[in-house]
Amino acid sequence: QTHLINIAIDGPAGAGKSTVARMVATALQYIYVDTGAMYRAVTLKAIEMDLPLEDNDKVGQLAKQLDIVLLPGAKSQRVIVNGEDVSSLLRSLEINRNVSYVARLESVRQRMADLQRSMALEKGVVMDGRDIGTHVLPNAELKIFLTATPRERANRRFMELGPDAGITLDQLEKEIAERDRLDQEREIAPLLQAPDAHLVDSTGRTVDEVVGEIVQWGLAAAKTISSEEK
Ligand code: CDP
Ligand code: CDP
Repeated sequence: QTHLINIAIDGPAGAGKSTVARMVATALQYIYVDTGAMYRAVTLKAIEMDLPLEDNDKVGQLAKQLDIVLLPGAKSQRVIVNGEDVSSLLRSLEINRNVSYVARLESVRQRMADLQRSMALEKGVVMDGRDIGTHVLPNAELKIFLTATPRERANRRFMELGPDAGITLDQLEKEIAERDRLDQEREIAPLLQAPDAHLVDSTGRTVDEVVGEIVQWGLAAAKTISSEEK
């Protein structure tokens, strides 16, 4: 019998966080929490309401009124905002282009971090994002910083979007680089490797290899905690 732990997976866009985090959660029978989807949901609602996306008060006010629920789905997680399933609306180019501006707002980050911490209270959570190991769950028993080269990350996204997405591989690589820059340079909880995070470079590696490595670390961390408590 091993103890439940929390696992934080952070890294830049297209590193494989959601894919890997979901599979690690399944392997360990843990709950997967996609925090990027939460920032995307706030961005979607702010755009729908025509709010100025850089207005900390207005968008923060909105974020406070949003009840965001994450449900496990067959292939991906379902995101329910005030009762409405918005899952299929969150990964558009428009949201990609705007989400990092909304994610810079202190009011929004505060609200999201509160919600995310409450989801991880009971442990047994695999949470992916940008600031999970550094800020949201600084005491997570296992922290992973997942990366891959910018070209490989752009390529993965390009394959997902398909040739009809209306964007070239070069454009996509530029947009990803710009989003990474905004995420790394923002003042509050920027994208950063925690000092105690394992660095995992997934360039040229299969999903299964990366998942296997993280699951092993997870099992080892859970075992260490169980034996420390004996
Ligand atoms: O899937 P992808 O890596 O492209 O993005 P995501 O994980 O869905 O995150 C979308 C955006 O939300 C990021 O570019 C960040 O601006 C923001 N985000 C954040 O600021 N903090 C988090 N913990 C998660 C996402
Ligand atoms: O969440 P994040 O933006 O970090 O990445 P993602 O949405 O999981 O997308 C990563 C894509 O790269 C998915 O299509 C994966 O199948 C693929 N991939 C991976 O995640 N890990 C590898 N080692 C190789 C490919």
